[in-house]
Amino acid sequence: MSTVTQKAAREHRVTVPSLGRRKKQGEKITMLTAYDFTFASIFDAAEIDVLLVGDSLGNVVQGLDTTLPVTLDEVVYHSRMVARAARRALVIGDMPFGSYQISAEEAVRNAFRLVKDGGSHAVKLEGGQSVAATIERIVAAEIPVMGHVGLTPQAVNRMGGHRVQGRGEAGRARVIADAMAVEAAGAFSVVLEGVPEDLAHEITDALSIPTIGIGAGVHCDGQVLVMHDMLGLTDWSPSFVKQYANLGALASQAARNFAEEVTNSKFPDEAHSYR
Ligand code: KIV
Repeated sequence: MSTVTQKAAREHRVTVPSLGRRKKQGEKITMLTAYDFTFASIFDAAEIDVLLVGDSLGNVVQGLDTTLPVTLDEVVYHSRMVARAARRALVIGDMPFGSYQISAEEAVRNAFRLVKDGGSHAVKLEGGQSVAATIERIVAAEIPVMGHVGLTPQAVNRMGGHRVQGRGEAGRARVIADAMAVEAAGAFSVVLEGVPEDLAHEITDALSIPTIGIGAGVHCDGQVLVMHDMLGLTDWSPSFVKQYANLGALASQAARNFAEEVTNSKFPDEAHSYR
């Protein structure tokens, strides 16, 4: 890239401060998960603001039932590909289960890896009050942190499944306290996952940092979806997911057409052969 092009790219980059300004200006923020160079390039060119290298890669890339076995090395590996593609988008590396709970020191070390080796601009971690001190330490090391409260998939065993959180008075108070703790600890934004719409609305109004919703209604400052869900690449997705394409059906048909043409010696034809 020439110096002029580099300068232009920098000027249009989505940054941590620019996301804060978007909330003040009432402009919605878009975030999608991405795990590889090709899709990250497509989403970046489509001006998706934030690309999250989610630990959901355990589900949609690795075929696991939960995100618990995902390792830091695996997130770093995928983050590198996404960061290579992102010219405009902010890239966030998800801290996997076990990479930030043991000690704040280890959490900071692992967050550094996502930035230095993975090319992420920021990290995300799950939890509220219980991880506030850890968020503070990572932020103090100049690594911006996105929080994640409500339905936190890494707590699947405590929650007894992927269940909506924040129902009932105590549940509601807990999610509010978690969101407040994350903001007070210095997070620049917070994901609200699987909570009732009115609770997400209340939290969004109460916080000065942007909230990014997933299964949390329309009042959040932004929305995130797992790319495989919204592109129709998975067999099943939760009811809050809207499918914006059915790439699964297209890919299946393309594979069948390929197989039929190979079987009948129609491919490769002259146009696809060297002379
Ligand atoms: O891992 C992930 O993809 C996430 C999003 C669902 C927010 O955490």
